[in-house]
Amino acid sequence: MWAPRLAAALALAAVSAPPAARAADPVALGRELYVERCVLCHGTRGHGWEWNQKVMKPPVPVPDLAETVPRLKDDYLRAIILDGGEAVGKTRFMPAFRFNMGEGEAEALIKYLRSVAAGSARAR
Ligand code: HEC
Repeated sequence: MWAPRLAAALALAAVSAPPAARAADPVALGRELYVERCVLCHGTRGHGWEWNQKVMKPPVPVPDLAETVPRLKDDYLRAIILDGGEAVGKTRFMPAFRFNMGEGEAEALIKYLRSVAAGSARAR
């Protein structure tokens, strides 16, 4: 059950981070958003593992983002993040985030996912 605690701790850190610094570094903002909203299902490194530590487990396999993101286009990533799995022909077990996420935040998440896939960033 460390993941929710980690997420809560990092969410607090995000609140206290200077907004200018966050805006200047989209990868850092993307990392904060990932830890806050994606880590429970996708794991700390996007691998979607560590199921024993999750509070919820989707009934469909969660793709290894570190592996699939390099093959995916920005348009696809933007659509699935903002409008959910069904927007790209997958299931609704990948939720839509548009109701509380701006386009800029989605762009930051995409930059972060690409940096994780490239091995240059970690969610922890
Ligand atoms: C409730 C669990 C859950 C949460 C929270 C979640 N996802 Fe997902 N995500 C999934 C599942 C399940 C799939 C696979 C859906 C399918 O195959 O139908 C998926 C698929 C994806 C894919 C598609 C990968 C591919 O190979 O096609 C991306 C990208 C993605 N998620 C990014 C994110 C991001 C970024 C966040 C946070 C903003 C997030 N997800 C939050 C469960 C989740």
